[in-house]
Amino acid sequence: MTALLDVSHVSKQFVVGGRLSRRRVDAVVDASFSLSADAPEIFTIIGESGSGKTTLARMILGLEPASSGDIHFEGRSSGERRRRRARLDFMRRVQPVFQNPFETFNPLKHVDRYLYSTARTLAGATSRAAAAAAVDASLQKVGLSLDEVAGRYAHELSGGQLQRVAIARALIPDPALIIADEPVSMVDASLRMSIVNLLRDLRDTLGVSVIYITHDLATAYYISDRLAIMQQGYVVEMGPARAILDAPEHPYSQLLKESVLSVDDAGLGHLVPADRSAAIAALEAAATTSLQERPDGRVVRA
Ligand SMILES: Nc1ncnc2c1ncn2[C@@H]1O[C@H](COP(=O)(O)OP(=O)(O)OP(=O)(O)O)[C@@H](O)[C@H]1O
Ligand SMILES: [Mg+2]
Repeated sequence: MTALLDVSHVSKQFVVGGRLSRRRVDAVVDASFSLSADAPEIFTIIGESGSGKTTLARMILGLEPASSGDIHFEGRSSGERRRRRARLDFMRRVQPVFQNPFETFNPLKHVDRYLYSTARTLAGATSRAAAAAAVDASLQKVGLSLDEVAGRYAHELSGGQLQRVAIARALIPDPALIIADEPVSMVDASLRMSIVNLLRDLRDTLGVSVIYITHDLATAYYISDRLAIMQQGYVVEMGPARAILDAPEHPYSQLLKESVLSVDDAGLGHLVPADRSAAIAALEAAATTSLQERPDGRVVRA
């Protein structure tokens, strides 16, 4: 069986600082997981700010090369996508949704222009009518229609509506995987659940798998099939979402469950572990430990 996605021993280091203060940041350390091609699922990556979630997502999307390890999508490595054609094939199958829909869309362009452009480049629409049909069909999947968004600018839509448009754009090429990096953190709390429910519906009705990146334990608990908890580059616990969130085993997972939202970042929902010194102690342990399997299917760094 070919996996939809196979991430194998992937690490990423960045070198930061100037000539005299140069240091290495281990953004992702030895991450491994795979998604099945047969059973669509919502795989959540959760962790506090700087834990490596976006870096991992960018490597999967091919926006950032891994320092080591391999990533295969439908059996093909990122190295096999250098040609434009292979790259386009990949983009049809894997689509991103980003955190801030107001940054996704240029404020000076009508939002439907992006949708038309995606229909042309990734869904093979050769006429305006064919593109309009593809765009409208995608918008319908997220509870909107072309009539509602045609000729409108990003600022004329709510954050929740605009994030729906971003998801609709991602759906145009009929992808197998959507990578949604904190898709609800900039959306009003009252609308978050409807976006999260939408991701779940996409899994159930379209068979799309979703990598859902979040700080938000509540939505993670609600929609995830499996989850990976990251701490400063390390996956410390990974497996069935309910089992882990009901009874986290790794000390950092336990801290995360008790964590509070920081006041500074309240809008972004950044997690801050309740006891930072305990979090640091757990991290120091991470470097000297390895992932171990448990009978309920989770792996824990111990
Ligand atoms: N382009 C880059 N150059 C240097 N360091 C980087 C770069 N991108 C990320 N990092 C560093 O890698 C680490 C992981 O960052 P990343 O953005 O992946 O975290 P994150 O979990 O997505 O955080 P957040 O929740 O704030 O989005 C951080 O220490 C960050 O400063
Ligand atoms: Mg991030």
